[in-house]
Amino acid sequence: MQPLKIAVLGSGKGSNFRSILNAILSGQLKARPVLAVSDVQGAGILTLAENLGVPTAEVKESKFRTRLSEEVECGLVSTLRASGAELVVLAGYMRVVKKPLLDAFPRRIINIHPSLLPAFPGLEAWRQAIEAGVTTTGCTVHFVDSGIDSGQIIAQSEVPVLPGDTPATLHARIQEAEHRIYPDVIKRFAAREIP
Ligand code: GAR
Repeated sequence: MQPLKIAVLGSGKGSNFRSILNAILSGQLKARPVLAVSDVQGAGILTLAENLGVPTAEVKESKFRTRLSEEVECGLVSTLRASGAELVVLAGYMRVVKKPLLDAFPRRIINIHPSLLPAFPGLEAWRQAIEAGVTTTGCTVHFVDSGIDSGQIIAQSEVPVLPGDTPATLHARIQEAEHRIYPDVIKRFAAREIP
């Protein structure tokens, strides 16, 4: 079976991208990163890609903060298509995906979210969990649809909320779980197990 060609989109430091790259480099995940994209200039995810010779692209959006304008998203679709990506992996990408991108990659855009969805969609889900006083939270990998963190769930992992947790300590514990489940889910796509 050919390695699965993946494109990774992120707005942040890129620790999930790093965990995916580590799984590839150690031979556990048969995938090839063909593109890393960010909507944030100089984002960590771009530096990681550059260091490994993975092609990068930046999307420049000045009109909106929470989504891309239609023309910018259509440009992103062309860039993704040209890369040959078979799976679009959102890893800390903080904009809502709209119709041009959804239509271009049906059931082939996935996201990781730091809560047990449907609980705590949206921003800073770890802080939401602390404020709600739950004792268990976690992370979810799901298909992306037009809503906010609302697509079909593919995998989840539970994480305890411990007494004395701050938003930062809880997020760090959730990220350890993210770094395990995201490469595992991509492995299932690479094995062509997920229709
Ligand atoms: C991750 O915790 C991810 O779950 C979250 O952003 C962080 C990115 O970290 N995503 C969302 O909240 C999406 N709704 P990273 O840049 O280190 O991978």
